[in-house]
This record gives sequence, structure tokens and C-alpha cells, in this order.
Amino acid sequence: MPMPATQSDLAVIHDVDRRDLLDRLVIARQRADELFAVVKPDSLYERPIAERHRIVFYIGHLEAFDWNLFRGRVFNRDSFHPGFDRLFAFGIDPVGGGLPRDQPSDWPSIAAVCDYVAQVRNILDDELADALSVSSDRTFDGFPLSTLLNVAIEHRLMHAETLAYMVHQLPLDRKIPQPDALNFDSSSLVGHSVDIPSGSITLGLSRSSGVFGWDNEFESNVVNVPSFAIDEHKVTNGDYLDFIADGGYDDREFWIDSNSTHDREQDRNWNWKSEHRISHPAFWIRRGNGNSNNDWFYRTMFEEIPLPKNWPVYVSQAEAKAYARWAGKRLPSEAEWQRAAYATPGGEERDYPWGNQAPTADLGNFDFANWSPAPVNAFPRNQSAFGVHGMLGNGWEWTSTEFSPFPGFQPFPFYRGYSADFFDGKHFVMKGGSARTAATMLRRTFRNWFQPHYQYMYAGFRCVRQPSSGDRSST
Ligand code: AVJ
Repeated sequence: MPMPATQSDLAVIHDVDRRDLLDRLVIARQRADELFAVVKPDSLYERPIAERHRIVFYIGHLEAFDWNLFRGRVFNRDSFHPGFDRLFAFGIDPVGGGLPRDQPSDWPSIAAVCDYVAQVRNILDDELADALSVSSDRTFDGFPLSTLLNVAIEHRLMHAETLAYMVHQLPLDRKIPQPDALNFDSSSLVGHSVDIPSGSITLGLSRSSGVFGWDNEFESNVVNVPSFAIDEHKVTNGDYLDFIADGGYDDREFWIDSNSTHDREQDRNWNWKSEHRISHPAFWIRRGNGNSNNDWFYRTMFEEIPLPKNWPVYVSQAEAKAYARWAGKRLPSEAEWQRAAYATPGGEERDYPWGNQAPTADLGNFDFANWSPAPVNAFPRNQSAFGVHGMLGNGWEWTSTEFSPFPGFQPFPFYRGYSADFFDGKHFVMKGGSARTAATMLRRTFRNWFQPHYQYMYAGFRCVRQPSSGDRSST
């Protein structure tokens, strides 16, 4: 596995070792392929999540994406299968407009899809090896080849994660179990919160840095953040159980959005919860009436186990907000989250919460090291300068910030809709990363986003409130 570089190293690697990009593409392919291999062959036409495509689509999509990106623009070649190039082009489902109704018989055979995949990989590998062997300052739509390759690599790695969410929802008997490390040490937890003094934080990447980032990571901007107090750890299943036991899902008061002036918007989360009869996180299973803690079980990727109380809870943003209101707190904004993770009392900023050292397996639960979460306090060194634990890895964290462009945003001309299609007021920023997030996306400027009513991500949260010191001096 190639070690991810620090922010300052990245610009150098970018130009010096472009062949490294081909190795990374090969590793990214393995990551996604190993996930398809988890699914029993007779289940590849299943649709584990109603809003998403059938699994077979994604086998074709990952190659069609790369092929559509490079074929004309870089290789100047003709398509050998225009039908598949189009069929597999778009991996994201439009918001609203009902659920997909396609049938398994609407899709080509696995053999035909695998044949397409193999052909694309062969051509791509030959062409890219050629293109990378000559040092060239050719640009494509104004960007160097390395940018397009980073896009292809990270696109695939993001799907390796979202495919894990999908395969997670497939019945256990349709999967081939893989080893998982479930035995972490964890000391007992006390729910402290940490005061973060007012101060500034840099969001986003500067174009002059030469560092690869997606369109939504640019431009860089400095914001001032008033003081706040943030939970030392992510909210655990155990914490969340207290909310459920206290009738959290039955009390409308916790679910209404008091910031919204529109009745319909105020009730959006409550209505969603009620219409879908949601009464607990999607990863939990209730046996019995749920009145005893022993009634609750948890579905990992490959097993059902008694609810692990010290693992982070994974929930939709709507559920996270309801918990926060119940606790008398709220979700952090993106800027607050960034400050808690990367700022220091002295004012300088870090590349990672623990310092400038690139992520390694001893620092946190990320980069495909495990299938499951770990206890929220399993990695004592995964601690920010202010003493906030576990901000990177072990589950994304919801923020209250609507996904929208930073000042100076420009869509990639070769992928205009990557972010811009989701600047619609219906998506919210998640930060951090999960056990299935590749190391390359653990850079501090990476922004993830989802709809507030999607329950299947490896995403949890921590809460913020007024600081105990009463320092609210800055603006
Ligand atoms: C950035 C994870 C929200 O999967 O919806 C994959 C990534 N975009 N193909 C998604 C993505 C296009 C995207 N997220």
C-alpha cells in the first residue's frame, strides 16, 4: 500500500513520480473488485438499497467512468461499445422522482459486463503507460493528466466505500464472509466535552498549492469561529440507546427544525421518520420489545452481534439532529468541525488531527483496515491538539453545514456535475472518514456530502454546545 503523503509532500509526488498513479489505479481496482467478490455470484443482480442501482451496474460503471474520461479527451480513440459507455455512465441517482423500477432482465449478462471491463482495462493500461512514460506538459481541458488520474482513482475508491454501504444491506446469506477485527481494547468512557476557544481556521485548498483536490475543495478561505464546546468522542450506540429509551423517536419536539420558518420544512425530518416508520438506526436490530438493553443487536457486514455499546452510532443526519436536541446540544458546523480537528492553541494548523504524520493503521480505523467500526476510544493517538478524539476514521461525522461551494469554486470542465449537481440545499457536509475510506481521502480539505434522510452510510456524529468558559468574544 503506498503511504499517503502529507499536504506539503503531495505537490512534489504529483510531478516526480507520475507512474505511481498507475499503481494507485491498480490498487483502487483491487479494492472495488474485492467487494464484488464478497457478493455470491447469484446475487449480483440484487438491489440492496431501494434508491440505488442493482449491484451489476457498478461493475460496469467504474470502467465506463474511466473510459469516458480518457477515451476521447486523452487517447483520441473510438468507442468499442457505445451502448455500455452510456448504460454505465452515471452512478448517482437523482434526488426525488421515485424509486428505480428496472428489472434484472433489463441488464446485460455478467459475462458481457466483465468482458467490457477487461477490454477497457487493457486499453487504458497500455495508453496510460505510454502517456505517462513521456514527460509532457500537455493539458486536457486545462488540467494535467495527473489530475484526471487522481479523479479516476478517487472516484473508484469512493465507490469502494459506497458499495460497502450497499453490500452491507444485502442479507448475510448472500455474502461470502471475510475476516474482520472486532477485538479492540477500550477503556470505559466518560462523556466529556472539550472547549475550543474562538479563532480562525483555513477551509479548502489553494489552487497554487499544486495538491490534488476535487472541485469543491477550492478555493482556500480563512474563517473565524466563535468559541464552542465539542464532545470528546463520537456519540456511541450506548449513548444513542439512552435517547431511544427516553422516547426519542416518539417525541416530535426533538425532530422539528426550529430554525426553519416554513411549517413543511420544520416537519420534514419528523414526517420522514413517521412515513418510513423508523424507530432505530438502520444497523440495529430489535428482538423483543426493545425495553431491555439485551433486546438490541447489531448487523455488521457479515454477522449479527449483541449491540456494541462503545462503537460509534451510524445514523442519518435527521436522527443525529434529533439526538442533539434531546441532549440540549446541536451538530457542529463544517468550520467548527475543522477547527476542533486541525487548529492548535498556538494558532498554526495541522495536516491531520494528530499532527503532520501521514495516516497509518495504528492511528485510526480507516483505509480498509477493518469492515466494522472500533470503540470510539480505541485509538488514543487519534487526538487533535485540543484533545478531541477519533475525528478521522471510524465513521464520517455529520455537520450542520449545507453542501455549497467555497468562494472561487469552479467545476471541473471534464466533470461539471460532480459537486455542482448537489449544491441544491438538500445535501449536507460530512467530515472525517470511515473504516472503508481510502487514505488518500483523509486529507483535511476532502468534503463528503449526503441527503439528511439516508441511513446507510458509515456516518455518525458528535455534538457541540456553548463553552463552559463563557468565552464568546470573537465573531
Ligand atoms: C462524494 C460520496 C457523495 O457517491 O454520491 C461517486 C461520490 N460521485 N460518483 C456519491 C461520487 C460520483 C459521491 N459522494
